[in-house]
Amino acid sequence: MKQGSLIPIGQDSQFPEPPELENHGPARVIAMCNQKGGVGKTTSTINLSAALAEYGRRVLIVDFDPQGAASVGLGVNAHEMDTTIYNLLMQPRLDVREVIAHTSVEGLDVLPANIDLSAAEVQLVNEVAREQALLRVLEPVMGEYDLIIIDCQPSLGLLTVNALTAAHGVVIPLEAEFFALRGVALLVETIDKVKDRLNPKLKIDGILPTMVDTRTLHTREVLERLEEAFGDTVFETKIRRTVKFPDASVATEPITTYAPNHAGAEAYRQLAREMIHRGCVA
Ligand SMILES: Nc1ncnc2c1ncn2[C@@H]1O[C@H](COP(=O)(O)OP(=O)(O)O)[C@@H](O)[C@H]1O
Ligand SMILES: [Mg+2]
Repeated sequence: MKQGSLIPIGQDSQFPEPPELENHGPARVIAMCNQKGGVGKTTSTINLSAALAEYGRRVLIVDFDPQGAASVGLGVNAHEMDTTIYNLLMQPRLDVREVIAHTSVEGLDVLPANIDLSAAEVQLVNEVAREQALLRVLEPVMGEYDLIIIDCQPSLGLLTVNALTAAHGVVIPLEAEFFALRGVALLVETIDKVKDRLNPKLKIDGILPTMVDTRTLHTREVLERLEEAFGDTVFETKIRRTVKFPDASVATEPITTYAPNHAGAEAYRQLAREMIHRGCVA
């Protein structure tokens, strides 16, 4: 690859400071989705949400992975909770407001999950309108948030279809690694199917390169291939690889409060500004 074709990674992009919001809601719903594990879905859900909350947006994270990593990463002890997102899916009369937990970040709430959720996939199969179960759970609080963001589990099963059915947009975190590109076609196919059959408003908001290591030619080549294939759908913001992210999750905090001046915190603030600028969030 020629030196001249190298693309800048994240540094040159400036997006304006977002305007303050006078009113909140109705929420736009975004599914953070990739059927591969370990690509940065949960990390991006937590840190993008925390950055948007810093900008005065009201954000609800839906932990939609039985691993419960988003709940744990926000200091919410979902393993000891009697009611979680699982109960909301299975018991239509339960009020979503009774299950929403506040986090230490002002303006940022979470609908927690734990291992109970793993049963939902099987139990929902026999329900009427099984793909709309999550949408039905979220509807009563749509007016109270600016963004509802769903941290999906690493599969394309019924839970993920529920997330895509409830969503307006999809953000696809993608590890900047060659083989990562292979899975994207299947994910896009699934998104297209849900769009055709269940949710015509659904669109891909953007592809977010994560674990970016600017020192390697490999990363740069992967980013080039991505931008060739997906053009402007790839966010200008790229998330670099840094141990501060796992450190912050051990501390059960977003990086924006754990290490507020670190480049990783700034990267998610930039993503928040880019998404507001693009109209993905109010
Ligand atoms: N940009 C990054 N740099 C370094 N480590 C990261 C980065 N993003 C996420 N991680 C770490 O990688 C692991 C997987 O990330 P996670 O967000 O849990 O992925 P997913 O939700 O897609 O499975 C976690 O240990 C997380 O702390
Ligand atoms: Mg995860």
